[in-house]
Amino acid sequence: MSSSTFPSAGARAGEEPSTGTAPGEPRTPLVLDHEYDGIEEYDNPMPGWWVATFWASFFFAIGYLLYFYVSPHGMSVADAYEADMAEARAAEAKRSLGEAVTEGGLQKLALDPALMKDARAIFAQRCMPCHGEHGQGVIGPNLTDAYWLHGGTLLDVYRTVSDGVPQKGMPAWKMQLTPIQTRQLAAFVGVLGQKPIAGKAPEGELAAGASH
Ligand code: HEC
Repeated sequence: MSSSTFPSAGARAGEEPSTGTAPGEPRTPLVLDHEYDGIEEYDNPMPGWWVATFWASFFFAIGYLLYFYVSPHGMSVADAYEADMAEARAAEAKRSLGEAVTEGGLQKLALDPALMKDARAIFAQRCMPCHGEHGQGVIGPNLTDAYWLHGGTLLDVYRTVSDGVPQKGMPAWKMQLTPIQTRQLAAFVGVLGQKPIAGKAPEGELAAGASH
């Protein structure tokens, strides 16, 4: 027990026996450099299992971060859910559509916000390079105006998207998209056409009954 109220180097010097060190000998490095009311503290390492758990979770966290936030592979729970939902909606739409593609059927797809959201994502992936982010046209024509090279009804657009215009550089998408995706995109082009965006100059014929 210390006779001094304050832990000081001088007070400690006389109490070395409590650390197992004879007076005057250097303090063992395992004893921490403070003392309160004569109580000193050993610098005990954390138990091995604790340190192992710490480092395991530390490196796991780095791996987790890289996988889910940096690399393109990791999918967040929300994204995985969204992908599953998109798949389910596509399956649902396919069932309700049957096999025949009709103007009315395509119009119905265009009115489904969830399907159009999926279509926007496919458009951004597949069509944007040639038709622009908003469909305003780059190499391919402006899809938001009322002028059409190959007809402006949804069914016309469906045929163009499905069969393409290979000799002019428009791919036949039925080779690369599922049937429902091709329909979704045809309907989506119809949605794009509701809001003309300044871009590539009009090409083709003004659609019947169009005002812009
Ligand atoms: C490699 C470039 C390229 C890609 C990718 C592309 N297109 Fe096209 N697209 C064109 C070209 C070029 C034309 C014009 C064809 C012509 O001159 O007859 C065209 C024409 C069209 C037309 C007809 C426009 C009209 O005026 O009649 C539609 C609709 C269309 N594309 C939709 C799509 C959709 C939907 C996608 C994505 C699934 C897509 N395109 C991807 C190049 C592309």
